[in-house]
Amino acid sequence: MKSIAIITGGKSPEHDVAIVSSRNIFKALDHNKYHVSVIGISRKGEWFHLPEDALFEEGIEIGASEQHFPLCLLPFDDQPIRHKDNIDIAVSVDVFFPIAHGVYGEDGLLQGVLEYLNRPYVGPGVLGSSIGMDKDVTKLLLQQNGILVTPWQTYFKGDEINFTELEKLGYPLFVKPANMGSGVGVEKASNIDELKHAIKIAFDYDIKILIEKGISGREVETAVLGNLKPEASGVGEIVVNSGFYTYENKYVNNETKVIIPAENLNEAAVQLIRSTALKAYRCLQLEGMSRVDFFYVSDNEFYLNEVNTLPGFTNISMYPKLWEAAGLSYSNLLSKLVETAEERFNLRNELRRVR
Ligand SMILES: Nc1ncnc2c1ncn2[C@@H]1O[C@H](COP(=O)(O)OP(=O)(O)O)[C@@H](O)[C@H]1O
Ligand SMILES: [Mg+2]
Repeated sequence: MKSIAIITGGKSPEHDVAIVSSRNIFKALDHNKYHVSVIGISRKGEWFHLPEDALFEEGIEIGASEQHFPLCLLPFDDQPIRHKDNIDIAVSVDVFFPIAHGVYGEDGLLQGVLEYLNRPYVGPGVLGSSIGMDKDVTKLLLQQNGILVTPWQTYFKGDEINFTELEKLGYPLFVKPANMGSGVGVEKASNIDELKHAIKIAFDYDIKILIEKGISGREVETAVLGNLKPEASGVGEIVVNSGFYTYENKYVNNETKVIIPAENLNEAAVQLIRSTALKAYRCLQLEGMSRVDFFYVSDNEFYLNEVNTLPGFTNISMYPKLWEAAGLSYSNLLSKLVETAEERFNLRNELRRVR
């Protein structure tokens, strides 16, 4: 049997979402095929080996129990993850399944650590993860490759803000931290006061922020899977009852509906969205998997909003549901992600490392 180590939690405001995602992944992995261990990263960033049922505890706080064993990492060792208090105990791992959404977990930092632990891991590598996490760099690359993105301006902390220029984009404006997810720190501004307030909030989360023209379009998403020859699923739609897709509307008050496949979207539009997602996947250096999100106004006007390199795997999450609709069950999708991770690892290992 192969050993899979799920990595969950993490030092990000999306810590709790990661736990929900990993709980679903733990349940859906084929336990006849895989031995599954759980590594939890606390809110402070420490690594722990968790008991099997820990993910299912109400209000679990990683690192707060004596049953959560602190870990140490041994780069390139044949057993790279060991208990800190008893180095002879190792967490067996053939493939990592990182599902720590957001900063530190999804932005290439964790992926860099996993490269040093020398095991395959699910999701994009270091570069693709970093690019995908940074909405500003993502847009620059997409623009360079002829993919339409919403007009935006970028500000770093301490920059003087040119409100006249910003207002030329036209209200409503969306203000967001460059590196974040799940709607955390994203605010809609309809006047100058709201804009100033939104800028202040976004700078709490990042030293770089984006201010974007608001688009009134449908929010449609597609799921991409694979390495050098990736495939795109069908297209799903997010419908928000009131307001926009905020953290609260997503996870707290059930104000959103996931519709698969998106209704009243003609076949040509679906194909355009899928092919644009595949083009973006390539130019953003993505591997493993990603969800690609758009604002669809018409066949001639649809914007790529963002990519998510470790998309949500909660009960309401689009990525696994899109594949389910394409005939790939949750459990088979996870097996496929593990195989895709191994394929990428082998591709890299086959490269020449000597002259
Ligand atoms: N330019 C925009 N126009 C209209 N709605 C937007 C815009 N940017 C963000 N939103 C709304 O805010 C939500 C969260 O923003 P998004 O850029 O997807 O950040 P996150 O990474 O947090 O999901 C989107 O799903 C959408 O509902
Ligand atoms: Mg989003």
